[in-house]
Amino acid sequence: MEISYKIIKTAVSTVIDRKESQIDRVIHKPFNDRILLSSPIEIVSKISEKAEPNEQDTLVESFLDSIQSKNLLGQIDNEMQKNLPNRRYEAIKNFNMEKDWVSILESIYILIRLLKPNLIVETGVGEIGMSSSYILAAMMDNDKGHLYSIDPDKFYEIYGYHVGSGIPGELRVRQTIVRDISQTSLEALFKKIGKIDFFLHDGDHRFKTKLFEYETAYKYLNDRGVIMSDDTWDSAFDLFVQKYKISGYSVKYGINDFFSYAYIHK
Ligand SMILES: C[S@@+](CC[C@H](N)C(=O)[O-])C[C@H]1O[C@@H](n2cnc3c(N)ncnc32)[C@H](O)[C@@H]1O
Repeated sequence: MEISYKIIKTAVSTVIDRKESQIDRVIHKPFNDRILLSSPIEIVSKISEKAEPNEQDTLVESFLDSIQSKNLLGQIDNEMQKNLPNRRYEAIKNFNMEKDWVSILESIYILIRLLKPNLIVETGVGEIGMSSSYILAAMMDNDKGHLYSIDPDKFYEIYGYHVGSGIPGELRVRQTIVRDISQTSLEALFKKIGKIDFFLHDGDHRFKTKLFEYETAYKYLNDRGVIMSDDTWDSAFDLFVQKYKISGYSVKYGINDFFSYAYIHK
């Protein structure tokens, strides 16, 4: 009885959140003058020009080779087979076909290899934990850094598994998962861990939640750092970069989706 009430409550709140973010998408259109990249890898030169002017293209190529030769997607797949109920695994096993998302994750891997951040916070681990896996792989290869990931983890536990089902076991030592929503836990987390270097939003995509997360992350970001966001299909990211006079860059992918990056030098 208690479980069915929990399922209904979770399902209803998830549907409401999604509907609200679809409405936001119509009301708050992205700015027409946002800077669009032709591919995610282009962000590396944009940011490294500002952050690491001496970095060579060969270094970037070697990082790209390094992540592509690891077969991280294969490792994620193995971990999912271990952690997911078979029916669920069968339903989502083609996750690795999302080539555009994988290119974005590779760009994040390269940025982390170049800039060597110490603390990263992300919101939205997701059922598989793809962004977590790429961030953690880069931290492992740098031999530096810790990732704090916020996700309420409320839906999947009903079915006996958790968010991040594909994060390879050996990478998890550099990750702490905060099982909560960002609205109530993000600021408390920053107060506990101190200033961070990178922030990634991929949790609750409502306009007001995204603006809240970008602004809170900015407040607790070191003097130099990177704020990134998936689902920037409304103007929240544009308003944020405009307010703080930051250069923001977006890449369009999938049918009508956007991922955005901002390099911050306070
Ligand atoms: C699109 S998935 C994240 C995908 C993940 N970044 C990846 O690369 O695999 C969205 C996740 O956001 C989480 N989420 C929803 N509302 C949230 C909130 N208010 N704060 C943090 N996470 C939230 C959901 O539980 C879900 O797991």
